[in-house]
Amino acid sequence: MGFDKLLAERTRAMDANVIREILKVVSQPGMVSLAGGIPAPESFPLEIMHDLTAIVIDKYASKAFQYDPTEGFGPLREILVDYLQQKGIKSNKEEILVASGSQGVLDAIGKVLISKGDQVAVEAPTYLGALQAFTPYEPEYIRLDTDDDGLIPRSLEKVLDGGGIKFIYLVPTFQNPTGRTIPLERRRKIAAIIKKYDTLLIEDDPYSSLRYRGTEIPSIQSLAPANVVYISTLSKVFAPGLRIGFCVAPALIRKWLVIVKQGTDLHSSTFNQALAAEYISGGFLARHLPSIINLYRPRQEAMLSALDKYFPDNFKWSRPEGGMFIWAEGPAGFDMGKLYNKSVQKNVAFVPGKYFYASGGEGIETMRLNYTMTDEETIDRAVKIISEVIKREM
Ligand SMILES: Cc1ncc(COP(=O)(O)O)c(C=O)c1O
Repeated sequence: MGFDKLLAERTRAMDANVIREILKVVSQPGMVSLAGGIPAPESFPLEIMHDLTAIVIDKYASKAFQYDPTEGFGPLREILVDYLQQKGIKSNKEEILVASGSQGVLDAIGKVLISKGDQVAVEAPTYLGALQAFTPYEPEYIRLDTDDDGLIPRSLEKVLDGGGIKFIYLVPTFQNPTGRTIPLERRRKIAAIIKKYDTLLIEDDPYSSLRYRGTEIPSIQSLAPANVVYISTLSKVFAPGLRIGFCVAPALIRKWLVIVKQGTDLHSSTFNQALAAEYISGGFLARHLPSIINLYRPRQEAMLSALDKYFPDNFKWSRPEGGMFIWAEGPAGFDMGKLYNKSVQKNVAFVPGKYFYASGGEGIETMRLNYTMTDEETIDRAVKIISEVIKREM
């Protein structure tokens, strides 16, 4: 039978995640991949996992293996209140919803809010996984202009002036894919704008804990709590395979997020949530985070100095103070897709930036480089190889 006849119209709107497809290609032996967006395996706190598991079993016994409320495991929601407080986000246990990764929240947001044809405003470029979560519900994406400091507030205001925007989706800190961070002054303007237009912002914040330099910047949620769904995750500071994400959302939105999550998975893994609760409340996270930062900081510095050393003068790139990515741009018309193919032949991979734009045809001359998965020496060598291919192409 031709099962494709059975596919829902919605399913036809979906696409495989290009990066996951690229990752399959570049996982061949010998390939240096600057393409991934994943934490280094050596950043996981493996040495405490036996103890943590024993603590969970001793403390919660069968409760850690039982069905649990959709909203999340009680002790985790409680400790997340403190965790968020340290990030300047005021919440109470009832306002927190735990999900299977922040991706789980993004999927639920799409299901709850987007009807076919609804307008969703996203940065150009934006996080591909958010587009993948929203696209099945068939929104119309509205482009928000960005510069080196992220979203340009005037562009947001212009888009909102047009009326009809369902919500705005932003990654304000160490954005995926660009690494850019919206400075405080702009955040204040954005907060004032979303209040003025009484609109909803989805603030996705997986990376703010991975800061290598500079000082922490308040979330937009802390500046306009009634207008923001704040999403974060333990994927980058604990282990992504445990799939622990969470959000703080205004009451009505949260109510519906819970209802759709009931239909999706009833609740996220109780055992993993118990591990996460003990990881934070036992002080393991606070003790382990500096070692993750100490692992990534020199890798980022190695990439920035390799770019300074090898990349041609007509290229520019972001200089983030944290996160996992650097965004590089070639001169207008330079085809990074072609460069990608040539570079893979030399066993070095990255992600061409065009995939991060909601509308086709943009970002041809851009690329995303990841530094968390590769040691300093290899980063230097890989950037040198890419730059040699660039020079040949030019
Ligand atoms: C901006 C952004 N949001 C969400 C996610 C999903 O993270 P997770 O589902 O592991 O929490 C990622 C992962 O890379 C990301 O970069």
